[in-house]
Amino acid sequence: MGIINVLPSEIFNRIAAGEVVVKPASIVKELVENSIDAGASRISIEINDGGKEIKVIDDGCGMDEIDISSAFLPHATSKISSLSDLDEISTLGFRGEAIPSIAAVSNVTIISRREEDELGCIVNSVNGHAARPEKCGAKKGTTVHVKDLFKNIPARLKFLRKDKTEENDIISLTDKLILANFNVSFQLIIDGKEVRSSSGKGLNEAVFAVYGRDYLKENDYVNATMSGITLYGYINKPAFSKHNRNFQTLIVNGRYVVIQDISFWIYNSFSSFLMKRQYPAYVLFIDLPADMIDINVHPSKIEIKFIDINTIKKLLSSVIYASLEKGASQPKEITLDKVVEKKEVPIVKEEPAKIESAKIKSSFINAPESRKSFFDKAIKVKSTPEDELSDSLNGNKRRKY
Ligand SMILES: Nc1ncnc2c1ncn2[C@@H]1O[C@H](COP(=O)(O)OP(=O)(O)OP(=O)(O)O)[C@@H](O)[C@H]1O
Ligand SMILES: [Mg+2]
Repeated sequence: MGIINVLPSEIFNRIAAGEVVVKPASIVKELVENSIDAGASRISIEINDGGKEIKVIDDGCGMDEIDISSAFLPHATSKISSLSDLDEISTLGFRGEAIPSIAAVSNVTIISRREEDELGCIVNSVNGHAARPEKCGAKKGTTVHVKDLFKNIPARLKFLRKDKTEENDIISLTDKLILANFNVSFQLIIDGKEVRSSSGKGLNEAVFAVYGRDYLKENDYVNATMSGITLYGYINKPAFSKHNRNFQTLIVNGRYVVIQDISFWIYNSFSSFLMKRQYPAYVLFIDLPADMIDINVHPSKIEIKFIDINTIKKLLSSVIYASLEKGASQPKEITLDKVVEKKEVPIVKEEPAKIESAKIKSSFINAPESRKSFFDKAIKVKSTPEDELSDSLNGNKRRKY
């Protein structure tokens, strides 16, 4: 007799939760991404008890009675339906495992109403078992209330860190989500106190909310295109470098991602302008055709793979050098420590990238002549009025649901 079992969904979901729900911030990420995919324009995140209780409220498209039940089933998603959809994912979620995974390690209540429905519906799930939905009065949109996180899983509960640490992780994640979704208004409330809020009125407002007025005023907005790839956002001048990596935000096709290879490349491109233990502070958006990336490489979807990472690196280096050269008259101190000596020489130094168009807030003022002509060849630098920038950014279309 065979010894292989097909696992019941209860066990399967608990296993999936091990990868999807690493900490309270993972739940916030999944729920907010669902709200974004639902086309929400306002998202409120409420946290209590160090993230063991999380409520995310949105004004998105909502769900009907059937879908609110289906959402708890493993591999149930409205976002893809065929194999070919996997090659062109335009939503943040697509795996159909976040809600069942979260429900497997907590108690969850979802209340939702679609605009066209008079009444909303409510479902309670206890330890991964969802009850039948019931009709109820509700605002348009969806509220997901997660309680008792890891209460029945002592091994996972033990690994939660101090409340403050989990909260700080959630704050830092919310900052990234605010930047990545700059046309959505966010509010983060921890233990009844509002700790973050953003207007949803474009990138400049989001950068202001997260990085502060001085950062926005003093640093460079960049915008460049090469081989169908667009790079835009803010790169700091050396004087605005930070003592940690918290101010590094990379957003690819609207998705906040962490790609070690790219972070290291950006650091290397900056390194001769940085003092020891200083790190660049940037918020950079890369937009490219969906078939040029593979999102399906990690359950948490925070890591992705570029099909052609070298072109991305060339574009990044060119834009970073152009931006740094502008402010090169005031580097605080150039430190050549071992790390810098070991660094890989960015390709662009030897082979200027052919950038089709680029904008940097002001022209090169202080760059030496030799560098100026190098960058003149690589990048066409234009003076760009602030309002033109913010208009073009506000016009950035969100993905379709
Ligand atoms: N806030 C929401 N508003 C409207 N629909 C939602 C919301 N949250 C979840 N859903 C619905 O429930 C389904 C399941 O959500 P879930 O997060 O589990 O999977 P997913 O988003 O499709 O994929 P992933 O597991 O990659 O996040 C979604 O596909 C969506 O149809
Ligand atoms: Mg999801």
